[in-house]
Amino acid sequence: MADNRIYEPFQDGPQPPYLTKHYGRTARMAPEGLLAASPRTPTELAGPKWQNGPDAEKSLVHGAKGLALGQLIRVVVRVLDEDARPQRGALVEIWQANAAGKYQHPVDQRDAPLDENFRSWGRGLTDDQGEVDFLTIRPGAYPVPSSGGWWRPPHIHISAYGDSISSRLVSQIYFPGDPLNPLDGILQSIPDVQARERLMLKHDPSAGIAELALGYRFDLVLRGRAATPLEG
Ligand SMILES: [Fe+2]
Repeated sequence: MADNRIYEPFQDGPQPPYLTKHYGRTARMAPEGLLAASPRTPTELAGPKWQNGPDAEKSLVHGAKGLALGQLIRVVVRVLDEDARPQRGALVEIWQANAAGKYQHPVDQRDAPLDENFRSWGRGLTDDQGEVDFLTIRPGAYPVPSSGGWWRPPHIHISAYGDSISSRLVSQIYFPGDPLNPLDGILQSIPDVQARERLMLKHDPSAGIAELALGYRFDLVLRGRAATPLEG
């Protein structure tokens, strides 16, 4: 793929020169000739490909034959750093079961119905406020196979990428007050009760859509004392 963008050269002030008298290593590493452009390989160019733009994949509920079954919800995810500064341009992905607790995935062999109008994943980029919103449904609970009666509470898997494909945070978010939350082996594997609480969606009517979807918010905090716990 051709990359025809023109980059300004580094300014001398904020960047050190290639050859620095007091830094011996630079004598071995500094170029002696003119710089040559290196080809950009898939490694440098890899990233999400948006067939219809980054806003086209934020709804999980608009199928070919209508809306998905279940309680429609709008989830506004906000990505923040440790100082509560919004993070713009973060790629946020979610994936979840449908209203019957069934995943649209060959690994899920449980006898539960699929919903042809529900797509079990969505993704989008955060805006200037660090926010990205998804229209989805409250997922159903599902039993963990061969677990002796353990049912996963309704939850949404979530991931956010930083500035490269290797910088990624993965976790799960839950619905407050669900009776399965205190019994869930994954949620309860987080020892700190306050940290578990940070994985709860917050009901917020202002995030909803009138007469269509209940509103929820979730702050995904990358670092610091309020950091979002990772998936166990
Ligand atoms: Fe799950």
